[in-house]
Amino acid sequence: MGNWWLARADIKKNGKRVGWKRLAFMRPKIIGDKLEVEIVDLNEIFKKKRFTINEVEVDREKIVAFRQPYHVPKPNVNARNEQATCLHCNNTIRYIDPTTGKHYAETKKLPKSLKEKLVWYVRYALGKYNEGDSSLAKPKLLVKVKVVNKKLLFEPCTEDDQTKLELAKQEIERLLKIKDPDISLEPIPMYETRRITPILGARRWYQFFNPRQLLTLVKLIKLIRKASKGIEEEKLKEGWSKEEAFRYAEVVTTYLAIALCKHIDYNFLCNLWDCNIPKISHGLTMRGIAMMWNWVDVNPLADFTGTWIRTLNQCISGLSYLVSVVSGSSSSTLFSDDRRSSEQKASVLLDDATILAKLNPKESFDLIITDPPYYDDVPYVELSDFYYVWLKRALSDVESGHLVPRFLPEAFFKKVGNRWVEVRTQWEEYAKREVGLNPPRLGPNATMENGLRHFQNLLNLSFVVMSSKLRDDGLLVTYYAHTDPNAWKALLKAGWEAANLRITNAFPIATESAQRVTARGKLALDTSIIAVWRKGVEGLISVDELYSLMVEEASARGAELFSRGLIGRDLVIGTLAATLAVATRYKEVRDVGRVDVDTLVNKYVYPATMKGIIRAVAKVGRVSEEVKSSPAILYVLVKVIMRGAKKKNLTSNDAIMLSIGTGADLNEMVNRFRVFTKGGGEESRDVALTLLEPQSLDKAKLEEFLARRWLNTIEPRLRCSVDALHVLEYYALTLPLEEFRKRLEDLRAKYPSYVEEALAMARIFARVLPEKDVEKTLCSRVVERLGPSVLEFLGR
Ligand SMILES: C[S@@+](CC[C@H](N)C(=O)[O-])C[C@H]1O[C@@H](n2cnc3c(N)ncnc32)[C@H](O)[C@@H]1O
Repeated sequence: MGNWWLARADIKKNGKRVGWKRLAFMRPKIIGDKLEVEIVDLNEIFKKKRFTINEVEVDREKIVAFRQPYHVPKPNVNARNEQATCLHCNNTIRYIDPTTGKHYAETKKLPKSLKEKLVWYVRYALGKYNEGDSSLAKPKLLVKVKVVNKKLLFEPCTEDDQTKLELAKQEIERLLKIKDPDISLEPIPMYETRRITPILGARRWYQFFNPRQLLTLVKLIKLIRKASKGIEEEKLKEGWSKEEAFRYAEVVTTYLAIALCKHIDYNFLCNLWDCNIPKISHGLTMRGIAMMWNWVDVNPLADFTGTWIRTLNQCISGLSYLVSVVSGSSSSTLFSDDRRSSEQKASVLLDDATILAKLNPKESFDLIITDPPYYDDVPYVELSDFYYVWLKRALSDVESGHLVPRFLPEAFFKKVGNRWVEVRTQWEEYAKREVGLNPPRLGPNATMENGLRHFQNLLNLSFVVMSSKLRDDGLLVTYYAHTDPNAWKALLKAGWEAANLRITNAFPIATESAQRVTARGKLALDTSIIAVWRKGVEGLISVDELYSLMVEEASARGAELFSRGLIGRDLVIGTLAATLAVATRYKEVRDVGRVDVDTLVNKYVYPATMKGIIRAVAKVGRVSEEVKSSPAILYVLVKVIMRGAKKKNLTSNDAIMLSIGTGADLNEMVNRFRVFTKGGGEESRDVALTLLEPQSLDKAKLEEFLARRWLNTIEPRLRCSVDALHVLEYYALTLPLEEFRKRLEDLRAKYPSYVEEALAMARIFARVLPEKDVEKTLCSRVVERLGPSVLEFLGR
C-alpha cells in the first residue's frame, strides 16, 4: 500500500485552508490469515458534511477530530529503499536469492557474489506474477467507491468482489491460450526505464492492466469493431455509396478508439486515487508510467472521472467544437453535401517533420507553428505505444486470428510489396526518427554524446525543411517549454545556425500577473515560450560589437517592459527576446573565428540580457553609475524581477540561468556572501534558493535578519555591497541623522566601493520597488539621510 488515505479533501478560501469536506482512510485488519480493511470515515462517524479547521487537525498520519486522535497507517512499501513491511507479521521484506528462494533482510555482511544475485523481493514477486505465477503476489481489491446522491461512499470489498478478479483472470488465461489477437502482447521498450517504471515487472503492454481491466478493455475493443461494421451497414442501407459509408464508419470508429484510449489512461495499474480531490488521476500525469502501489479500477459505465462514458462524452463535445470551428456550425456533419467552400476545409497530414514528404513540393506557407520536443523530456514514441497497441486493435479487423488493415491502415501497417505488414510497436519502428534524446534507441552501446548529436541533427533537419516551406515574408512560430540555456542553444543551432532564420520576438505563454508572482513567490521561469522567426539573416559582426548592441537593445526593451509594470518571466523573456533578435540578425558572429552557439548564449546572450535589465532599472531609478559586482547584480535582479513577492524563491533552473547571466557563483552567494539561503523548506521542494532580504521595519526583526545574514551591526565586517546596503538600512532606521552620517563615513573609509554600490542600489530601490516592499521604505530613509557631500560623492 502506497497510501491508506481515501479522502483528505480540504476547503480553501482565497488560497487558504479553512476546513475539510471529506476525511476518510483505510486500516488493515488481519483476520486469521486474511487481510481485510476497515474504513474509518470521519464524516460518517461525526455525521458531519464538513469540518472547520478548529474541529479537526489533519496531519500526514494523524487526525485529531474533536480531540479524538485517529492514526492513518503508514505506507508499507518504500521502493526507493527497496523495502516493504509485511502487514501480517510486521517483518521487513527485503531481498531474495532467486536461485535458492532464501530471503535476506540485511545484506551488509554478505559476500559480493551472493549480493549480486539478490533481487528486491517485491520486484521479484511482481515479475513472477507477470510470468503467470501468482503464488507470491497478486492484486487485491480493498475498497469500493460508490457515488450516491453526488456523495462518495466507501465500502470494504468482499470475497465476492475478489472472486470477480479471479474469474476475470481465468478468462484472460483462456484468451491467451487461444491466442486472441485483442490482447496486446507487444513488447514494452525495456531500455526506457526513466519514464516507464520497471518495477511492475511488466514486459508486454497488456501487463499494465489487472485481469478485470484487461477483460473490459478487450470487450470494448470487440464492441467498437462490431459497432464500426454496424455503422457501415446502416449507411449503406440508407443509400450512401460504399466509399462514403466506409469513410463515415472510419471517422466514428476513430473517435470511439480515441475515447477508449483516454479511458484506459484512467483504468490501468498506474492510476492513483487522488485522495485530495478525491478522484482518479490519469496514469500518464507525470509524463510517464509510474508504479502505483494502489491503483483504481473503474466501472466503464459509471458517470465518474475517466470512465468510458465520460471520455466518450468529452470526445463528442471536443469534436463538436472542432467541427464548429472548421465549418462555422456545430450542427453540420462532416459528410453533409458540401455546403462549405474548399478553403474552409482543413487537411491534416501525419508526417515525419524532418522530411515533410507529403507536402506538395511547390507549396509554401505564410505561417508555420511547431512545438518541437526538447532533449529527453518525454520519450513520445515509447510512451505512446501504451495507446498505440489498443488504437491499432480498435481500428483494424481480425482475420484468422490476426489483425488485418481496416481503418487508417498506414498508421498500423506498412506496405511491403503488395502486402500490408503489421507494425508491432512504434518504438521498434520509428524511435530513431523521433526528434528526441534517448541514446539506447541508437543501440545498446550508444553514448550520451551519440544521442545528443542525433537529437540535434534531427532538430536541425526539421528546421531546414520548415524553412524551405516558408514564404520569404512568412513566419515560423516555435513553442518551447524551457528557458534552460541548453534548450535555447539547441533551438538556436537548429533555427539560426542550420536554417538561417532569425528570432524577431518571444513571449512567455503563461504571463505573470502580479498576484501570481506574489502568491507563489517563485520565479519558475520554466514555461512555454513562443519565439517568432523570420527569414533574412545577413552579414558578419564581431562579438564585441554585437555584445554592446545586445545590451543596448536589452536595456531599451527592459526599460519599456519594466515601465509597463511587467515582472517575472514577462520581463526576463521579453528582454531575452530583444537580445536574441539582435544576435540572430547576423549570419555569423566572429571573434578570432566563428563564435559557436554555446559560447554565444553563455558568454553573450544571457549576460547581455541581465545587464540590459540592470541598466533598465538604473535608468528608471535615474542612477547614472552601474551596479557591477555579482552579489549586487543578483540581488537587484531578483528584487526587481520578482518585485511584489513577499518571499523570493528560485527554482534550480532559474538559479542556473541567473548564474550564467551574471557570472555569479551560486555557492559563493550562499556560503560566502549569504545573499541567498538554500531551499524553500517542506512546502516548496522545488525551490533551490531563497533571497535574504529585510521583511520588517521593526528594529528587533531587522537585527534578526542581519544576524541571519551573519552581519554584526556594531563592528560590521562587510563582504560585499549587499552587506553595506543592509547595514546602512539598519542605521537609517535606528540612528539619528548625525549618527547615521558618521557611521556612513566610517564605513566608506573602510569599504569605499561597497558603500558606493550600496548607495546606488538604495537609490534604485527607493524609486523602483513597490510600496509594500519594506526595503523601499528603508532605502528611501537611506537616500533622505544623504547630505550634500554624499550627493557630491555620487556625482550629482
Ligand atoms: C512537445 S510535443 C508537442 C505537443 C503538442 N503541441 C501537444 O500539445 O500535444 C513534440 C511532438 O513532436 C513529435 N515528434 C518528434 N519527432 C517527430 C518527427 N520526426 N516528426 C513529427 N513529429 C515528431 C513527438 O511525437 C511529440 O508529439
